[in-house]
Amino acid sequence: MAAPPDELKTELTELRHKIEHHNILYYRHDAPEITDQEYDQLFDRLLEIEKAWPELITPDSPSQRVGSEPLSGFTQVTHEIPMLSLDKVTDEDALQRFEKRIHKRFDSDKAIEYSCEPKIDGVAVSLLYENGLLIRAATRGDGTTGEDITHNARTINDIPLRLAGRHIPDILEVRGEIYMTKSGFAQMNAQAEEAGEKVFVNPRNAAAGTIRQLDSRVAAKRPLTMFCYSYGLVSPGYLPDTLSAVFERFDDWGLPVNPQRKTCTGIESSYAYCLDLLARRNDLDYEIDGVVIKVNHVDLQNRLGMNARTPRWAMAYKFPAEEVSTILKDVEFQVGRTGTITPVARLEPVFVGGVTVSNATLHNMDEIQRLGVKIGDTVIIRRAGDVIPKIVSVIENRRPDNAKSIVPPKTCPVCDSEIEHIENEVLMRCTGGLFCRAQRTQSIIHFASRAAMDIDGLGSKLIFQLVEKQMLTSVADIYSLERDSLLALERMGEKSVDNLLAAIENSKQVSLARLLFALGIREVGEATAQSLSTHFGNLQAIIDSSEEELLSIPDIGTIVAHHIRAFFDETHNLDVISALLKAGVCPAETTPVNTDELPLSGQTFVVTGTLDSMGRSEAKEKLQKLGAKVAGSVSAKTSCVVAGPGAGSKLSKAESLGVKVIDESEFLSLLEQHDK
Ligand code: IVH
Repeated sequence: MAAPPDELKTELTELRHKIEHHNILYYRHDAPEITDQEYDQLFDRLLEIEKAWPELITPDSPSQRVGSEPLSGFTQVTHEIPMLSLDKVTDEDALQRFEKRIHKRFDSDKAIEYSCEPKIDGVAVSLLYENGLLIRAATRGDGTTGEDITHNARTINDIPLRLAGRHIPDILEVRGEIYMTKSGFAQMNAQAEEAGEKVFVNPRNAAAGTIRQLDSRVAAKRPLTMFCYSYGLVSPGYLPDTLSAVFERFDDWGLPVNPQRKTCTGIESSYAYCLDLLARRNDLDYEIDGVVIKVNHVDLQNRLGMNARTPRWAMAYKFPAEEVSTILKDVEFQVGRTGTITPVARLEPVFVGGVTVSNATLHNMDEIQRLGVKIGDTVIIRRAGDVIPKIVSVIENRRPDNAKSIVPPKTCPVCDSEIEHIENEVLMRCTGGLFCRAQRTQSIIHFASRAAMDIDGLGSKLIFQLVEKQMLTSVADIYSLERDSLLALERMGEKSVDNLLAAIENSKQVSLARLLFALGIREVGEATAQSLSTHFGNLQAIIDSSEEELLSIPDIGTIVAHHIRAFFDETHNLDVISALLKAGVCPAETTPVNTDELPLSGQTFVVTGTLDSMGRSEAKEKLQKLGAKVAGSVSAKTSCVVAGPGAGSKLSKAESLGVKVIDESEFLSLLEQHDK
């Protein structure tokens, strides 16, 4: 057979370099320089040449990332240098003791430098490169023996098949964590759910389950990625003498290292880094369960040595767990503001994500069925950041014999009205309207809330009491609450009553947008309320509007228009509005403006970080008044990001997508420019 022409070999090498280069831009930096189509063309050409000349296929060719025939089993791999675990602490004192032990060992109080980085919640692996070529990947296993997962590792775009750059060691064993991004996980699960396939409980399980697949074509389709954080066997003389410099070297070789890593001097500064990262934990697109603090100088590491299975030069500072197990004691069905009936789990209280939790949401009956959960079960609950705790799975082998099935109510558990089943019977809604005490209570809570009428001191506990005592039957009653009857309530002193009455009085001067939002019209959130207010300028015009006119407002579709009309067609809603106006509630009127012609209409803004001159919600309101949409996350469609100090992942995403970013002073001049 003829030998392949030299030009073809050169073209192939160039293609491989180009593809890997674009892989890194796309997967690591989220900043592609070519279109998907152009990328596909390069890839197709590569496959074409390799098909014609199979002898030219090399193990570092990007074509090898797509997966291949399933293996029949896993081969065991022995780690010549064991993969260690870490000692753990959960408080500052214990960190101080860690540093004291180091000082004692060196008989010196000289400041120690630490390399700190997030502790990734994924799967620990070892990658072996021989003369720069990836020849083996293995799981940590028990630290001494793991499993060969080379076939799956090759499919991970972030893992170089061949190291880049120069001065590459003959042997380099890199260690790190394979994980799944939160966004990739969510997308993958959504697709699986749609296809009626099994969904994973969390990104860690998904990563672990994927890496242990025999069929690498499965891994090739899943959004796995990696951070490298240490090394095992390395030919001598190639690595620098501090970890921070090692990570720079890794980066030069194309190995993914965590951009959040930081070198800190002294344990106090390392602890400050832990707290900072804890505060930003939910902004990261991957799950972390703490910080790993490692002595930066390799010679100091060597002198400190190790205990049985853990190094004396490293420590894991663990964050509060976001997932724990507890017992499901009962399920109650709660009625919300619009009548939706939601199952709520009553739990044996547990400490999770930094707080004690005794309730969790179960969403709907479908979710209960999907989880297969029963009362009495041991369940895993998750609470990340400010997110409402939820049950993620059931530990079925701990189910007691007397576990009880969860039975949905036949009538409204609060007012006994009929239940309407919507969206394929998954959702239940009480048909009682404001006759239902629960709906009344919730609508009053919403009315008084910060984003609505902002009545400070009128919180849900007090509202429950007032509804119970029949002092409040509708939102309008708030304005006829009397000092003496308030004083007679539990835990209401003179001062709190006076403050409350002042807050109620204050709330009468309100923007039309807030009042509209406060009324709790279905599907009318803050942004829609703002659009209505800008377009019509006064309440009566909205009450009198036709569905057609409502539909002419951007962002208002048929369903929303229908709900708005239906709301104002109900006499009892009009009665409440009259009563509010009579009591002195006075929404500010403005000249109607065509929302399409506002200076920022059609633009989407994201506000992130802290602003000195105003809160984020005020900034949002001001932008909306100028016609802008305000979104919670950055995408290629974002027109502009307002970033104050402390801006985290949203800012970096904007930068990588090339979205315009302005600081507070630029933001203020933008507002000023349009201030009429
Ligand atoms: S360093 C000897 N750094 O934590 C030092 N480990 O409990 C080796 N882990 O099995 C570990 N993120 O899987 C290190 N940034 C990080 C880490 C990390 C996660 C895992 C690793 C290890 C476990 C130890």
